[in-house]
Amino acid sequence: MSDIYYNYKGTLFSPVATSAEDLSFVENEFQVLDDDIFNITYPKSGTSWMIEILSLILKNGDPTWIKTVPNWERAPWLEIVGCAKNLQLSKERPRLITSHLPRHIFTKTFEGSNAKVIYTIRDPKDTAVSLYYFSKMYVCYKDPNSIDDFLKDYLVGNLSRGSWFSHVKGWMKLMGQDNFMFHTYEDLQKDLRGSVMKICKFLGKELDDKAVDSVVANVSFENMKENNMSNFTRLPNHFMDLDKSPFMRKGIVGDWKNHFTVAQNEYFDKIYKAEMQDFPVKFPWD
Ligand code: PPS
Repeated sequence: MSDIYYNYKGTLFSPVATSAEDLSFVENEFQVLDDDIFNITYPKSGTSWMIEILSLILKNGDPTWIKTVPNWERAPWLEIVGCAKNLQLSKERPRLITSHLPRHIFTKTFEGSNAKVIYTIRDPKDTAVSLYYFSKMYVCYKDPNSIDDFLKDYLVGNLSRGSWFSHVKGWMKLMGQDNFMFHTYEDLQKDLRGSVMKICKFLGKELDDKAVDSVVANVSFENMKENNMSNFTRLPNHFMDLDKSPFMRKGIVGDWKNHFTVAQNEYFDKIYKAEMQDFPVKFPWD
């Protein structure tokens, strides 16, 4: 285990932005409301993309909110120090809440509530590449020496928020519940408009064609890269060093092919197969 992380119930976290006390509050005391909308992801799976989509859907396609309020205020990360307590005081309804927490330590009051979860999953190889670059520039994550070293940690979950496999398997147990929807980053890439309409339906929001057009246009990679409320350029450099890697880096499917050696890919496939061979859902990358 890396010494820059601490262990909370089997999952690693950075003490820079989280604390065991806050995690315990989130898990045991935070009060979920029936109209809460949770944007849940393993890191680098399309979290900020989904915040943008949900923000626009809630505002019927009007981009004023996404252009004037940073995404971490629109959809706070539940487990970041102080966020859960602030959310308890928030008068905003519905509350849009982001989290990378694995299911086993997610807030207990979610159980039995009507709060909705949208779970976005990305090809774990592309997620790994994105997380590798992010780990080099984000103060909370261990700077990996090389992709080889990074993959060794990633594939056993020896990093912030734990293993991709446990995260996906934990959250996907909710499949079939009316208040749970999952989709992939690759679905968003393939059919953004169709994905937006599915999300609207799930949320019970009826948007006209013009409003859907506005959602689709405003969440393009190019527009989000230019939007300083969404591209993290407002954060201080010592927190996210965007000179090392921009947050809005490439935004493509299959970038792992530009990074993995044949041996790394084989090693990855072997572990993926062992972890996922009995998994009931087939993903676009399977
Ligand atoms: S975080 O830090 O966990 O919240 O990061 P997250 O937002 O989950 O993931 C960041 C990656 O998502 C890409 N991204 C997008 N791709 C396509 N279109 C849009 N609009 C978009 N917005 C964000 C972003 O570029 C990161 O992926 P990589 O592969 O690093 O480019």
